[in-house]
Amino acid sequence: MPRPTTIHVCSSCGHEENRWHGRCPGCGEWNSLVEEGRLGVGARGGAGGGVAAVTPIALADVNAPGAPRLSTGIGELDRVLGGGIVPGSVVLLGGAPGIGKSTLTNMALGNLAQAGHRTLYVSGEESTAQVRLRAERLPSGALAVPAIAETDLEAVIATLERERPAVCVIDSVQTLDARELSSAPGSVGQVREVAARIVGVAKRHSIAVFLVGHVTKEGALAGPRVLEHLVDCVLQFEGERERTYRTVRAIKNRFGSTNEAGVFEMRQAGLVEVLDASARFVGSATRAPGSVVLAAMEGTRPLLVEVQALVTPSELVPPRRVVNGLDRNRLALVLAVLARHGGVPLAGSDVFVNVVGGVRVDEPGADLAVALALASASRGVALGPPGAPTPIAAFGELGLTGELRWVAHPERRIAEARRFGLDPVLAPRGTEATEVATLRAALETAFASPPRVARAAAA
Ligand code: TYD
Ligand code: MG
Repeated sequence: MPRPTTIHVCSSCGHEENRWHGRCPGCGEWNSLVEEGRLGVGARGGAGGGVAAVTPIALADVNAPGAPRLSTGIGELDRVLGGGIVPGSVVLLGGAPGIGKSTLTNMALGNLAQAGHRTLYVSGEESTAQVRLRAERLPSGALAVPAIAETDLEAVIATLERERPAVCVIDSVQTLDARELSSAPGSVGQVREVAARIVGVAKRHSIAVFLVGHVTKEGALAGPRVLEHLVDCVLQFEGERERTYRTVRAIKNRFGSTNEAGVFEMRQAGLVEVLDASARFVGSATRAPGSVVLAAMEGTRPLLVEVQALVTPSELVPPRRVVNGLDRNRLALVLAVLARHGGVPLAGSDVFVNVVGGVRVDEPGADLAVALALASASRGVALGPPGAPTPIAAFGELGLTGELRWVAHPERRIAEARRFGLDPVLAPRGTEATEVATLRAALETAFASPPRVARAAAA
């Protein structure tokens, strides 16, 4: 019998089988067997007898030519990458369909081509005619990029070997088909095989590769998640498709920091960098009940965003908790602390919290602003000095005992809030703003009068 070219490996225990099984015969886990090429990522097997040992070298003696980074011509993207593209690096760009992955990579290649670098755009989803139609809307360099429409992995690899571009985009990793695997393109085994092979070529010929990957909202799709360990850098493209603002964030970066984020706006002519995002968001904020400006950090940059809350009596058990741009569990925590230590019980209310503009703020420093917005919404009273055009600003993490905790970079957050004349800036102790030690103190300062026991409490 011919030896099968693929094996099925259990992703839980590593057990190998020639055929697919619904349940792993090794560990009993269901649906854990994934097809892999015998020589692909999954190539295993004990070391052969006659293999020579390798001599280790002290890192100081390793020859590491510092090839200069390539600029994508998109400042925000370069910054997130850690200062441009490292030659030969593989970057996974994940994001929901329609968020702008093809647009961003097209633009980057266009700029690189215009700067005289060899580029290649591999489209597995669209015909070259469709790619051209998009490129026509983008800045001029985009039309100079050589493109192929191809889904066969072997053909793509052969093209890379021959063309040797400096930077290549594979759009998307889920559409390429490794012929030797019988599973459908986009399945876990296929995606891993495709990525492993591409990474191999990239390192061999020093081709920087952007692997585009679709991720569903839950990040659950068979795909990008399983590639994170294979690539050098993972960028996540986030934002709501219906909104204009999008952020690109590094989740993993072997050549830079992971706490940088770039802010973009989708326009008629592609993605435009938003250089002063705070000005945009504060400009649209109005002093109204339920509105607070959060002095957040996007990586090393301060960013002011408006947090809005709406609280209405609920007829549902449990009541609604709708949140946009924040972590649901964080909201639950803030609600619990508000009820227990702030005298604002919202157990009988529907609660809606929204970070305006479609940006995502994933940091504990958002707690205080969320709590103040909720308290303000629940009492129907705008915060801050009467007559002020903008809402107050706040940041700080809430502890479970109702205390306000220090968060990173208070001075940058405060400076940013002052830049827009926001006053007061409520912040934890140890900062030079209006210091508040507890949630209760913050509420008192924000309402400029002791919080009454909320009316809703009776219910
Ligand atoms: P696209 O980059 O194709 O998204 P993805 O590759 O992540 O699936 O485009 C996303 C959306 O952006 C699409 O609905 C059309 C819109 N768009 C613009 O508004 N302006 C533009 O210049 C381009 C190219 C696209
Ligand atoms: Mg696309």
